[in-house]
Amino acid sequence: MKGIGSQVDLRSRLAGVMPALDVEMALPLIAEIQQLKRERNAVVLAHNYQTPDIFHGVADIVGDSLALARRAIDVDADVVVMCGVHFMAETAKLLNPSRTVLIPDARAGCSLAESITAADVRELRAKHPGVPVVAYVNTSAAVKAEVDVCCTSGNAVEVVESLGVPKVIFLPDRYLGEHVASQTGVELILWDGACEVHERFTGAEVRAFRQQREGIYVLAHPECPQDVLAEADFVGSTAAMIDAVAQARPPEVVMITECSMSDNVAVEFPEVRFTRPCNLCPHMKRITLQGVRDCLRDLSGEVRVDAAVAARARQSVERMLAVGRRRAA
Ligand code: 13P
Ligand code: SF4
Repeated sequence: MKGIGSQVDLRSRLAGVMPALDVEMALPLIAEIQQLKRERNAVVLAHNYQTPDIFHGVADIVGDSLALARRAIDVDADVVVMCGVHFMAETAKLLNPSRTVLIPDARAGCSLAESITAADVRELRAKHPGVPVVAYVNTSAAVKAEVDVCCTSGNAVEVVESLGVPKVIFLPDRYLGEHVASQTGVELILWDGACEVHERFTGAEVRAFRQQREGIYVLAHPECPQDVLAEADFVGSTAAMIDAVAQARPPEVVMITECSMSDNVAVEFPEVRFTRPCNLCPHMKRITLQGVRDCLRDLSGEVRVDAAVAARARQSVERMLAVGRRRAA
């Protein structure tokens, strides 16, 4: 959904979603980063929650967690810069271990990834012997190493059903787990983790949007609580939300998810009016143009995963990707 054009092009694309002064300050940095990318033979991957200057200005590949994992495999540049949170950079390193993977700010964490440890997974297994474990990719490599298979918000139902068993341990997001449970006959044992951004939305807030703006199309991320999802017209991953807007082309939409998402999508669909509920992910927002420039210039922020952990964690991610490939075949 994106393409890097000239600076004139970029200025006008960013103008609708960023203050003019910020755009002028961003343009020289963007040019510097593009030059550094060439010098370092580097590729920039960016999640849909990155700010528009990064998303539209410097990213070569953008997407949801699933797309970023899939695309990380074939990157043949020497350096991969992950503009996203730490688990996304770790996943890229797991899938393409010979590349140098950099994250512009190593503190960019995730409340879900922080809610569970490898020891917690071992305890769950001991409590529920023989029950397979599915982990959302929003987990550390150490947790991925302990589970059977990973999933993202884009394929969670499919992954759970692919196991062909009546009961599955699903972690760490209880809201995503509740949503998946509502879509399948498989019984899910849930962990009590939550996304600090999405759990703040309420069904009452969505009803208020509907009252204020008649006919508004409501899209919600499945990390939101059930009462929010019950009010939505569409529930899906960040990439699925973009596809839904592209297909439905509603006159007005509200995306119940992180703030930058609406800005990034609004650049592509200027005819659609976006009402922006603003819950910001403080972790995603640690990534800035300056940080991207510095890590490329200094080759700093390298992501490393212990080899033994990486070997097991990679299997969990690869099993997830194989589920999608089996369906495509
Ligand atoms: P997506 O995989 O839907 O992009 O979600 C990732 C995420 O962190 C949502 O909060
Ligand atoms: Fe984690 Fe939530 Fe931020 Fe996504 S939005 S990275 S799930 S804290």
